[in-house]
Amino acid sequence: MTGVPVTGPAVPAPLPMVGLREDAVVASADGVLTIAQPFGAVTLRGLPQAVESLLRELPGTLADQDALAERLLAAGGSSHDAALLYLTLSRLNPVLVHAVEPLLRVVPIARDARFRPPALAPGDTVRLSRFALVRRAEEGLVLESPLSRHRVTLAEDAMPLLAALGRPVMVKEAPEAIGHLVAAGMAFAGDAEERDPALRSWDFHDLLFHARSRAGRHDQPFGATFRFLDETPPPPVIKQPPEGAAVELYAPSLEEAAAADPPFTTVLESRRSVRQYAAPPTVRQLGELLYRAARVRRVFGPAPGMPYEASSRPYPGGGAVYELELYLTVARCEGLDSGVYYYDPLGHRLVTLPARDEDARAMLTAASLATGGTASPDVLITITSRFQRMSWKYSSIAYAATLKTVGALYQTFYLVATAMGMAPCGLGSGDADLAARTLGLDWATESSVGDFLVGGAPAESDPHRQGER
Ligand SMILES: Cc1cc2nc3c(=O)[nH]c(=O)nc-3n(C[C@H](O)[C@H](O)[C@H](O)COP(=O)(O)O)c2cc1C
Repeated sequence: MTGVPVTGPAVPAPLPMVGLREDAVVASADGVLTIAQPFGAVTLRGLPQAVESLLRELPGTLADQDALAERLLAAGGSSHDAALLYLTLSRLNPVLVHAVEPLLRVVPIARDARFRPPALAPGDTVRLSRFALVRRAEEGLVLESPLSRHRVTLAEDAMPLLAALGRPVMVKEAPEAIGHLVAAGMAFAGDAEERDPALRSWDFHDLLFHARSRAGRHDQPFGATFRFLDETPPPPVIKQPPEGAAVELYAPSLEEAAAADPPFTTVLESRRSVRQYAAPPTVRQLGELLYRAARVRRVFGPAPGMPYEASSRPYPGGGAVYELELYLTVARCEGLDSGVYYYDPLGHRLVTLPARDEDARAMLTAASLATGGTASPDVLITITSRFQRMSWKYSSIAYAATLKTVGALYQTFYLVATAMGMAPCGLGSGDADLAARTLGLDWATESSVGDFLVGGAPAESDPHRQGER
């Protein structure tokens, strides 16, 4: 247990106070008072004028509740008005800023925010949630958690307490501040969090990503906000292909492909992940697969409501942004040298990259490991994202939308490869650092988000050929 010096000569005694967010708008019409915040509005009816006036002053300020009541009385309000003020503040509890001055302010950020002061005994212990994080935001240091519908803004004096809360701390060390952190869902008493089976199963980063890439639990800009529209153009719809020797690819006749394909339902029902191959693919097969799954069909835009160039491809892509790029690491392919290639989706050709052999081998080894060592990859397709194309348009959901588009591309590869009698297998893990090095990419600008194996044909020995799957 840690002693926490949160009070002392240099630090005034913590004082609980309430207020409203700076951006809250308090307005009244026809006897109805509305408090509007970015995530929703609450309405109150029949409040005395004196109480309304006090509430109007609350945005961006903090006040001790008793001091507010005294001000009400001093301004001529009745004791009934004062009682109504306390009642109103308790009703407004979910939308109020709750502060322990000068340490921290608990700010509501979502429509269903609840601030429930816990019943804690001085000897109880409390610890920060393992999902809580401290980061630098516009307003300074903030404490956030996907489990909380509040954000806590932190003063420097709060740091000793926060540091101590990495381990269990007795409530009596800082009752007000600890109570506020528990009420906001940033900290838990005892081992409540560890014992929750739903929470135990979440990785820290997964739960944060889930909370922030869906609406409802935060107040961040969300969806197609085009936040860089006036600042910078998006990266181009078609990536400038790298320099290197080009390999023109076979482009099939779609009429012939349609005539040769098994019926759609047969393709869908026979699709399997295949990890063992009868033969390596031919360069003609690779050309047909890439053409039918991933070429650029056309480029269009800008258009009203779509202030950027977009494209059409066989797989669906969020916003028609098409931020994904494809790279092939070839171990064995009939008619194509082993090596690393960029797929130019407009020119429908491969461009040879100057990758190091040991990096290419490491990519193939990582892919094999992802199959539990079952596959000895012939061709690994690495899917990267040019991230800024998506974040130029979308806020909060850019990366989530990219991963969804990767899923759509996986299925398109699966179905086309199955129709062609090839051997497809999507992979769930890949090394983005290794891929960036191998492919000569800047990790933050463009790096891998998906990995897909393809062989020429399923081996007789592949389990699914033997009806084991
Ligand atoms: C997103 C995703 C990730 C996958 N990751 C792997 C993987 O890392 N290794 C592997 O061998 N198979 C992987 N697979 C294939 C699945 O294991 C396979 O789809 C699942 O077992 C169902 O079998 P089926 O595809 O033969 O119907 C993945 C599939 C998807 C869609």
